[in-house]
Amino acid sequence: MQMSTSAGNNLDATRPFSLIAQFARDFLRVYTGSCITVGLLMILTVLLQLPIPILTMYVIDHTVAARNFDLLTQVTLLLAGLVIAKHVVSYFNETLTLRLKENIILEIQKRLVNTIQRLPLSFFSGKHSTYLQTRVMNDSRAIEGALVRTLVSIAVDGLTFIVGITLIMYIRYELGLLLFVFLAPFAYIRYYANEKMRILSRDMQEATAVSSAVISESFAGIRTIKAYLREDFQEGIIAGQLRGLRDIYIKTNWFGVLSTVGTSFLTSLSITFVLWYGCRSVMTGHMTLGQVFAVLAFLNFLYGPVNNFVAANLRIQQSAAAIQRIYEFLKEPKERHDGKRLDAVKGKIEFRDVSFAYDGVNHVLDGVSFNIEPGKALALVGRTGAGKSTLVNLLLGFYNPQNGAVMLDGHDISDLSLETVRKSIGVVDQQTFLFSGTILENIRFGKPDASFEEVVAASKQSYADEFIERLPEGYHTRVGERGVRLSGGQCQRIALARMFLKNPQILILDEAVSAIDSESERYIQRALVPLISTRTTIVIAHRLSSLLLADRVIVIEQGRVVEQGFHHSLMQADGPYANLFQEQFNAQLKRNDTEAPSVAVA
Ligand SMILES: Nc1ncnc2c1ncn2[C@@H]1O[C@H](COP(=O)(O)OP(=O)(O)OP(=O)(O)O)[C@@H](O)[C@H]1O
Ligand SMILES: [Mg+2]
Repeated sequence: MQMSTSAGNNLDATRPFSLIAQFARDFLRVYTGSCITVGLLMILTVLLQLPIPILTMYVIDHTVAARNFDLLTQVTLLLAGLVIAKHVVSYFNETLTLRLKENIILEIQKRLVNTIQRLPLSFFSGKHSTYLQTRVMNDSRAIEGALVRTLVSIAVDGLTFIVGITLIMYIRYELGLLLFVFLAPFAYIRYYANEKMRILSRDMQEATAVSSAVISESFAGIRTIKAYLREDFQEGIIAGQLRGLRDIYIKTNWFGVLSTVGTSFLTSLSITFVLWYGCRSVMTGHMTLGQVFAVLAFLNFLYGPVNNFVAANLRIQQSAAAIQRIYEFLKEPKERHDGKRLDAVKGKIEFRDVSFAYDGVNHVLDGVSFNIEPGKALALVGRTGAGKSTLVNLLLGFYNPQNGAVMLDGHDISDLSLETVRKSIGVVDQQTFLFSGTILENIRFGKPDASFEEVVAASKQSYADEFIERLPEGYHTRVGERGVRLSGGQCQRIALARMFLKNPQILILDEAVSAIDSESERYIQRALVPLISTRTTIVIAHRLSSLLLADRVIVIEQGRVVEQGFHHSLMQADGPYANLFQEQFNAQLKRNDTEAPSVAVA
């Protein structure tokens, strides 16, 4: 098994900084230049605004009383220059940060999609596709706190605060100390509200995810809901979910309100206090008017950084949790991508004493052995749930057997590259998946470089051409969400065309014609006969006509091979096959008045 190498050992959300360091190594390294630039520009922004209060003080104390117009103009120009420079730098910094952030998010999303697509099928069972999609889209967005900006801002804010408080104390020592009466509760309210919101936001996300699932299910299952007249009932369930969601939103965001109002109150109160205290000091001759204005301006240097400091803590914790979730995926063992490649596959298949359980405990296959010579066709029959499709899953290397081996051309497929295995096999199965796109694109899925003529030829073979031509936009008709809905039989014919186009050495038809009317079915069978005669074929047959395509029959019951041989001899043996045949096929035989099973009997 190939392990993803990027995951570290310290993937623990309680140690946010080691997680962020790991993340920086994996995702920020390519952007080192941009990260340094962002950091430098942030420091520059702070440096450019530091002199502003001092210049304000200077203007008031030295130009107003002295009626020095020239000096006023000069200092004002300098102030304006600083303000312009600061905003130009901020503009570039914000733009750069925005790009940096979106690029990093894109990088994470690409890595996640790349990894998830290459995980084994077992990873996907039991996971809702919407859930995976949400994780790819949302986890990547929640890493903001780990970005340079937050980390640099901690340093820059610390510096700003120290400079601010030092200068205030330098101007008037007592005033600086008294300001802590406001700063301490300010910091506490921010911290308290953020902590509450952090804890509640987890409930909020969970409630959102659950409600989305309930709502999307109600729309996806609308046919069933309508047919059973369950609209009101479903509406009740959704309304209940949404009410819960409203309550948790109100509760969470109330702490936001508390924090905004509380801190704004303290800020305003401290301005009033500075005005009162400052003006008194001016009257007693301890301060100049300019100094009062300077202290008022310096207040921003205190509240801003305290605010950011507390927020940075929250963001770091949140992003550490997101990074941890991202690495949960990235460290999943991928499907192997090594193994022997074969240039040409002949198509000899052998199951050697194969036992398999999806969950590792409950055996679905139990000591299954059989083989198929190249070019021969085998029919698998058995009741529903017997394990027929599971055999196909093992042959495609979707799962590995716990016991025994599945062999292709004499090689254990777990030693072969999955590319070799999957390239040589064409499957048309019970569920045809059509992608939202045109019919042409869907058929080309079997061979991306196929010409239009090849696609049409394949469609003719699978009798898809006739109904495609009748559609207003023909092969360019969009299917699915934004286009034409196709019937089950039409989908199967497209899937068959896909397989005809792929033209693999091994064919697997898992009830490939079950949704097709008997006339088209007969035509398709005829088209399949020449293909089957030169290729190894496994037909999982629920219909007599499919059975007719095979040379030999294997009967599976509860994961075991209970009988195998030729149709004729098995019928004579009057065992499980004969029973099944009576049950499943005799009725069809009478109904369809099909010709004698020529191939199978041969
Ligand atoms: N992905 C899966 N995870 C766990 N169990 C599974 C999975 N797929 C199938 N099974 C179980 O394995 C058993 C065999 O299923 P399989 O699909 O092979 O049956 P089948 O013979 O193809 O049946 P049918 O004729 O209905 O298609 C069933 O009991 C089924 O519940
Ligand atoms: Mg099946």
